[in-house]
Amino acid sequence: MLETKIAPSILAGNFSCVGEEVERITASGADLVHCDVMDGNFVPPITFGAQMVQSIRPHTALGLDCHLMVLHPETHIEDFARAGADIISVHVEACGKKILSVMRKIKELGVRACSVVNPETPVEALFDTVEEADMLLVMSVHPGWGGQKFIPETFEKLRRLRAFCIANGKDELDIEVDGGVTEENAKSILEAGANVLVAGSAVFRATDMRGTISELRGE
Ligand code: DX5
Ligand code: ZN
Repeated sequence: MLETKIAPSILAGNFSCVGEEVERITASGADLVHCDVMDGNFVPPITFGAQMVQSIRPHTALGLDCHLMVLHPETHIEDFARAGADIISVHVEACGKKILSVMRKIKELGVRACSVVNPETPVEALFDTVEEADMLLVMSVHPGWGGQKFIPETFEKLRRLRAFCIANGKDELDIEVDGGVTEENAKSILEAGANVLVAGSAVFRATDMRGTISELRGE
């Protein structure tokens, strides 16, 4: 049975006290800390890099789920591994044909490897990576900003991806969804085949963070 995991994104937190924000989501029952790394090239905004990951590492025992929205991710993965990343996610759109070798390099560094597709990329682009992947990530918004609306075509992509995993003996593979996840749509997203939900605004805007995280998990 696949475990449902909630990964709040610190992108929606207060950057002047990120350590405290990480402690707050940890105390509220999160399963992973989602770190949105943006380089101003692959996506227009710039957020933070490996130094931030290293700084938050002592503030939680949870896994740090590092989503690299950067060009040439292969040139940065050693830094993120050294900083304490537990999962490194790399985009098909940034890696192209090199994606499998980039994922192998991540795993050689003792970090879990995840491949990601943007909304405009067919989910089939992840099929070739299933053998190497510890997790698969389907973007449900255009990457770059928090607080966007969930793109409904994602449901069908999730169904096709989960069906492919099951047909290839990878029933237990984690499938993550990122963008526009709310208490209202979480159940349908899980039913479509995802089991790891990233949630930025939904978690950080909540007055009861613990209650929101349980609700997202379907408790
Ligand atoms: C978008 C990021 C997401 C984002 C999610 O580029 O990858 O992780 O922070 O934020 P919400 O949950 O607000 O859509
Ligand atoms: Zn993300």
